[in-house]
Amino acid sequence: MVKINVGGCSSFVKDADYKAYVNKALDAFDVLVSESGAGNDFLGWKHLPSQTPISLVEECEAVRDCWKAKGVELVIVIGIGGSYLGARCAIEALSHNFAKQLKSKNGNPEVVFAGNNLSEEYVAELMDLAAERNTACIVISKSGTTTEPAVAFRIVKEFIEKNYSDASERIVAITDAKKGALKTLSTQEGYKTFVVPDNVGGRFSVLTPVGLLPIVVAGFDIRAMLEGAKEMEEALAVKSEENVAIQYAAMRNLLYSELGKKIEIMVTYNPKFQYLGEWWKQLYGESEGKDLKGIFPASVNYTADLHSMGQFIQEGERIMFETVINIENANRSVLIGSDEQNLDQLNYLAGQHVEHCGAMAQLGTKLAHIDGGVPQMEVSIERINEFNLGGLFYFFEFACGVSAYTLGVNPFNQPGVEAYKKNMFALLNKPGYEEASAKIRERL
Ligand code: PA5
Repeated sequence: MVKINVGGCSSFVKDADYKAYVNKALDAFDVLVSESGAGNDFLGWKHLPSQTPISLVEECEAVRDCWKAKGVELVIVIGIGGSYLGARCAIEALSHNFAKQLKSKNGNPEVVFAGNNLSEEYVAELMDLAAERNTACIVISKSGTTTEPAVAFRIVKEFIEKNYSDASERIVAITDAKKGALKTLSTQEGYKTFVVPDNVGGRFSVLTPVGLLPIVVAGFDIRAMLEGAKEMEEALAVKSEENVAIQYAAMRNLLYSELGKKIEIMVTYNPKFQYLGEWWKQLYGESEGKDLKGIFPASVNYTADLHSMGQFIQEGERIMFETVINIENANRSVLIGSDEQNLDQLNYLAGQHVEHCGAMAQLGTKLAHIDGGVPQMEVSIERINEFNLGGLFYFFEFACGVSAYTLGVNPFNQPGVEAYKKNMFALLNKPGYEEASAKIRERL
């Protein structure tokens, strides 16, 4: 279960102001729950945890088992934005830090990501890897026409078709139920397909097959993930000042609107959570950054980034607050030893857990940053596992809806993402962009 502690903001805000923002968030909660707000045709994510049929989970597991039977060692997951960040976040969070380097393998294929950039070197090097491994591919695109994944898929598809006689069994597509280029191709080629529901936007899709299939193929327990999300769905459905999503939405809107805190930094203390920051940045950035409003979402990984960004956060312009992901218990245990010479003068820590030093660094940083004028919230989970990650995903999604409605924007559209695409298509001379192409060239 996700917990929140807004105590690290209390010296910055007045109780009455916080109460007022809790009331605003409670109103926004009503809008989200009654499905009466802007973008309300994109609320399919709300009941995914409780309404995902077990047959869908089994279908995902069947792909995993089929590829295991074929001896698949490498699964290339192609997608961009909401079509890959959730899966990447979960897989990085749940994997051994050194899974790639360890000699003892766990029998699951390695999952790598493609189609999230247009780097030629990246694709070439991906093909170097694929050439050495028994390879399969999951291609994910709701629209089916996004340039980055489409380019990567064309290359990976050609590679798989050239190298395997059972190519159509090595490609699974996750796309729209009825329309789009990827749907048409899948029907033609006989690919197994999964559906991105019409009423679920990319950045809210981690608990659909978009996230579930890559996560289960990587060897993780999606049943537990959905269970954790379901527990959160039930908890967050209760309209109350104690509701953790209400508290998070209320405090971040108060800090932004009344104290001019324009930047929220997600702080993680475990390197495995680097991609939680990436997933969260898309979720909040695309949902709130519009109509010339929005908190800019940034992320850091401490203690590493205390030695890079720490100076700015401590003493730079006072425009940010921090949301710390607090993990109460480590999954592993390592004690610091005693050393006869004690040249590093660390014997005072002998017998202590490494995590104890981490906890004291976290507490010390909290106090220093509060002293430096940086309000801090903590979002806690008990430990990193599938169940808690499912809860965390759902918490941030639900809180995002509440928060964006509190801010007064439509959380579920992303009109601004189109601007770069139009220019890119014009510059690439895409058919249909002739006029735009002529105009853009005048500016160069
Ligand atoms: O949140 C979103 O909707 C976007 O980030 C999309 O997920 C992203 O652009 C990928 O789109 P698609 O799945 O259509 O290829």
